[in-house]
Amino acid sequence: MAGKTALIAGATGLVGNELLQFLLKEKEYEKVVALVRRPLAKNNPKLDEIIVDFDKLEDNRESFAVDDVFCCLGTTIKKAKTKEVMWKIDVDYPVAIAKLASSQGAKKFMLVSSMNADPNSPIFYSKMKGKLEEAIKKIPFESTSIFRPSLLLGNRQEFRLGERAAAAIFKKMPFLFAGPLKKYRAIEGKTVASAMYKAAQENKPGITIYPSEQIQKIGG
Ligand SMILES: NC(=O)c1ccc[n+]([C@@H]2O[C@H](COP(=O)([O-])OP(=O)(O)OC[C@H]3O[C@@H](n4cnc5c(N)ncnc54)[C@H](OP(=O)(O)O)[C@@H]3O)[C@@H](O)[C@H]2O)c1
Repeated sequence: MAGKTALIAGATGLVGNELLQFLLKEKEYEKVVALVRRPLAKNNPKLDEIIVDFDKLEDNRESFAVDDVFCCLGTTIKKAKTKEVMWKIDVDYPVAIAKLASSQGAKKFMLVSSMNADPNSPIFYSKMKGKLEEAIKKIPFESTSIFRPSLLLGNRQEFRLGERAAAAIFKKMPFLFAGPLKKYRAIEGKTVASAMYKAAQENKPGITIYPSEQIQKIGG
């Protein structure tokens, strides 16, 4: 299908930036709306960059009238400083985006969640992602795709010690993540972005959950 429109949130992040490249390059999309809080420094005739206050997304209600929505928002507890702020960024903003997009007639919603997302988990991060998924599943779209990647690999400007250490283990001892541990294999942000892009070109009705192994297969 030619001439679709897309909206992306989180385009300055690891997965979001890779995804933005796909959306701008591929012919399926004639317009890509990027909701950002700081400029992308990109010049592309397809790109409609909108600097927004994520606490007041409804002020840009009309921008949500697109075909496909890609949500790659998220933060770390180190950056957010409190669980409340992290919840706002990881749950409240994506849910607000999904509600506005659904009300404006968007058909597909693609969300980056995380491996081990579980609303009943005693672990804050897993519970937060599980609650996010629960909320997103209730918002009507023709198609909702939820991606649950393992540890993300890729070039980050910021230093994340835990992620770097884990990534080094994945890279140096890949044999550890064969067999039953395969599902914990780290995954490139670009692979997640590619899988999200490809899923959006399918016409799968209802809700589809993509575990990390499947993301690897589709996007790799
Ligand atoms: N890191 C991992 O290993 C891992 C594993 C599994 C799942 N995930 C999940 O995957 C998703 C994408 O991860 P990622 O590593 O690509 O994320 P990232 O690089 O940290 O990027 C996060 C995006 O969210 C935006 N954002 C953060 N705080 C914001 C705020 N207060 N208001 C508006 N936008 C805000 C950032 O914008 P700015 O550039 O303006 O800050 C950026 O575009 C996240 O939900 C993450 O939880 C991560």
